[in-house]
Amino acid sequence: MNSSKQSRAHNSSYLFVANWKMYFSYNTAFSWATTYCKEIAQIIKDKNISFIICPSYDALASVAPAITKENLFLGAQNCSSNEHGAYTGQVSVTSLQEIGCTYALVGHSETRFYEHLENSDLITKITLLRKHNITPIVCIGDTKEEYENQKSIETIHKQLEPLLPLFQNTQNTIYIAYEPLWAIGAHTVPSKEHLEKICTAISQMFKNVTTPCPTLIYGGSVDEISIQDILKVTQIQGVLVGRASTDFQKIKTIVSLVGKRSLRTQV
Ligand code: PGA
Repeated sequence: MNSSKQSRAHNSSYLFVANWKMYFSYNTAFSWATTYCKEIAQIIKDKNISFIICPSYDALASVAPAITKENLFLGAQNCSSNEHGAYTGQVSVTSLQEIGCTYALVGHSETRFYEHLENSDLITKITLLRKHNITPIVCIGDTKEEYENQKSIETIHKQLEPLLPLFQNTQNTIYIAYEPLWAIGAHTVPSKEHLEKICTAISQMFKNVTTPCPTLIYGGSVDEISIQDILKVTQIQGVLVGRASTDFQKIKTIVSLVGKRSLRTQV
């Protein structure tokens, strides 16, 4: 199932990645998914949007049976950098694949912070995910201080540079999510100019590494209002949505606005 379903996701025009963080428990994630997934599949039908739901680890298996439609996908919020063994509390990429995940977030600022994630761990996670046909969504982002001191691009460079060799010949099977830390859960999004500057800087970095440039996603306070500005940035091919992705009404509005945008780039 994975490879054929995944190849269709790569052909969609826009990605909606729902990062449920730890907003739902096992039971509430299950009931949300069984109540709304069918309807979500229906509203994104014909819009060429792929919808990836990333529940917490505990809820992955309970949400998986609701991901039955072509345009819906299951994603994990993280994975272990170890293949198997004595790693208390960790979840292996093998398990994620067995449950049916075809995407996984890595390097989210919240996991970077709690795990003290090193570049070497990130590289191992990406490598393991690719080995198991799971598309890594690599999260990067600047702090408020870096942004205010005009160091955003420098930070992005520092975060991506060690990962560049991994992108060689990957034919767009690793995505990048720009998530400024100062925008996450903050009711504020960067200006169009800032986002364009970041996207251009990332494209430049990949110029001699892989063609096309990896799919770029934006995350941080995306909701039914801010999506209108984000959609103006044509290099951005998807959104990573936290809080608002738990609210079906907000999802409906965001998806209908995304559907109206004329989309030229294929993800
Ligand atoms: P937010 O979170 O949409 O609640 O700001 C985004 C994220 O952290 O992925």
